[in-house]
Amino acid sequence: MNSNVYVFDHPLIQHKLSYIRDEKTGTKEFRELVNEVAMLMAYEITRDLPLEEVEIKTPIRTATCKMISGKKVGLVPILRAGLGMTDGILRLIPAAKVGHIGLYRDPKTLKPVEYYVKLPSDIEEREFIVIDPMLATGGSAIAAIQSLKERGASHIKLMCLIAAPEGIEALNAAHPDVPLYVAAIDEKLNEHGYIVPGLGDAGDRLFGTK
Ligand code: PRP
Ligand code: URA
Repeated sequence: MNSNVYVFDHPLIQHKLSYIRDEKTGTKEFRELVNEVAMLMAYEITRDLPLEEVEIKTPIRTATCKMISGKKVGLVPILRAGLGMTDGILRLIPAAKVGHIGLYRDPKTLKPVEYYVKLPSDIEEREFIVIDPMLATGGSAIAAIQSLKERGASHIKLMCLIAAPEGIEALNAAHPDVPLYVAAIDEKLNEHGYIVPGLGDAGDRLFGTK
């Protein structure tokens, strides 16, 4: 497997992902679980954030402590389904600014169609985490990352719940500089471009549509 791909095998992530995949899991529980897994993944993904030493005065004396330094985080959910992961991550990184990229897959061509982009103004200063539960053909994530790069972003990570091998290959070919963080790599895509076994349509399951 490509060295730019990281699979989070933490037991809590894997346990909750099994419920997310289950067709019996209803919208409310699905939404809660997606946010919980996103939060746990954000905990793992931020492991390498740089720290700096700061002087803090405790009630007892001054102490040399550590705080996060370096670039600030920008979260970019791909609409719609990326929204389902946003609140969970913001619980851990409340100061992150949130940009939005709206894309949908044309059901016939499976190609992404961009319909909305709104990003923080200080793009060059941010470390971006693009979020979307599903990396299927990879078209949506590739287009979203391209959109970010064209507007000046240079530090980008992609975080998904489930990826298909086809999407990973396409992502690595298009954006070899972008590491991918996932909870699972599934078997393949079916003839409709859905991940097998996957979890079905992430947007529909999150928002109760069909
Ligand atoms: C889903 C999903 C991804 C995309 C993945 O969104 O949330 O954005 O498909 O497929 P890809 O890797 O082949 O591009 P969808 O197009 O269904 O839009 P929605 O979130 O508005 O439902
Ligand atoms: N989009 C989804 O929501 N699910 C898939 O399996 C593939 C693309």
